[in-house]
Amino acid sequence: MNIVDSEQIVVLLSGLGYSQVDSAEQADLVLLNTCSVRDRAERKVYGHLGRFKPIKDKRPELIIGVGGCVAQQEGEKMLEKVPYLNLVFGTHNINSLPDLVQQAEQQHLRGCETDFLDRETRLNLFPERSFQETVSRFVTVMQGCDNFCSYCIVPHVRGREISRPSLEVVAEVQKLVSEGTKEITLLGQNVNSYSLKDKGEASFPQLLHQVNKIEGLHRLRFATSHPKDMTDELIECFGSLDALCHHIHLPFQSGSDRILKLMNRGYTRDDYLSKVEKLRKSCPQIRLTTDIIVGFPGEKEEDFQATLDLMKEVGFADAFTFLYSPRVETAAAKMADKDSALVKQDRFDRLLELQHQTSSVIWNSDLGDIQSVLVEGKSKRGEGDVFGRTTWNRIVNFSGSIQLVGKVVPVKITDVFRNAHLGELV
Ligand code: 5AD
Ligand code: SF4
Repeated sequence: MNIVDSEQIVVLLSGLGYSQVDSAEQADLVLLNTCSVRDRAERKVYGHLGRFKPIKDKRPELIIGVGGCVAQQEGEKMLEKVPYLNLVFGTHNINSLPDLVQQAEQQHLRGCETDFLDRETRLNLFPERSFQETVSRFVTVMQGCDNFCSYCIVPHVRGREISRPSLEVVAEVQKLVSEGTKEITLLGQNVNSYSLKDKGEASFPQLLHQVNKIEGLHRLRFATSHPKDMTDELIECFGSLDALCHHIHLPFQSGSDRILKLMNRGYTRDDYLSKVEKLRKSCPQIRLTTDIIVGFPGEKEEDFQATLDLMKEVGFADAFTFLYSPRVETAAAKMADKDSALVKQDRFDRLLELQHQTSSVIWNSDLGDIQSVLVEGKSKRGEGDVFGRTTWNRIVNFSGSIQLVGKVVPVKITDVFRNAHLGELV
């Protein structure tokens, strides 16, 4: 989501004559686009701002701003805490940025805009995209979240759910594909609840069908899905849509029904497992990745064991594992949380160990296979190497010409590392 927001910021500011530079030292304007899903995000943002102070001391005309979730959460407080900060803009206020910047440039005013906007205004403010010849791009289909999982700050900082009209989404994908994009990821905080509250609008599976038909689109993905909104119709898309990749990121958070209830997730362990079974029936090659929280308030060893069991039963190709930490305004922040940091850390380590073992078995099973790789660009490994991704979103580095960018090519997997494969063009 923040990548898309940053792209929009670049487009808006190019209208004021700004262009991107490589470092804060060279810049006339520095903007931090923040996310508060991660632990201690506020502290990290203040830390970053501190690093700009010496530059501002040398060049007082430098404009410094903060946007995104932390800006939404902190608001005016940031201007009070950081006297050299010029502007703060919230998650609904990216379009106010040019005005805020001009006020800072011309009148040296310090501004803060963090009001949530109404649905109509937000729908009208969907971003103009910058032209970039990029193989893989994101398209936002919905914003905000109404789920209020008890640990999560997103509904508080991103506001209520809205879905874009499907016609607009399809038109945007068509435009990107005509500019050379080969892979689209449809994005939303809770992407598969797309249009559930909008009568007469295409459902999310129908939207996938429409996008899948677009000539020239090789690959389609979507993120992030909520298990409670994984309908049979959506699950069937994995078996029937040729562009839809054989991968889904489906956070389960906890394997214990008691904890899932406290988290307000709206599904049980059995519900989750039954969706996984259906997904595998629809598309036997599918691989799953997930998010898990360890150490939620009140989690007991038996709850944690249920999480480990679920992980073993499903066999996730990868997992993002998080140690619970409270977020302001959330329901879980008020729940009694007695377990020591040591107990939680021990569970976290055990979880990680199990995930590493599982991931290693799954990714090592690719050794020797020939897989279709969509080539995205030059590899970080060095001259003469390119990288791309498999249908499972696994990065593969291999020797090849830059002319391959944008093509799907067969690559034999020759080595497996923790985060990527190494291969040879066949
Ligand atoms: N503590 C720990 N992890 C969290 N996540 C969200 N909020 C918290 C929190 N308060 C994790 C969830 C979510 C991922 C993006 O971040 O697993 O799926
Ligand atoms: Fe947060 Fe996702 Fe739950 Fe929404 S569905 S509250 S974004 S964890």
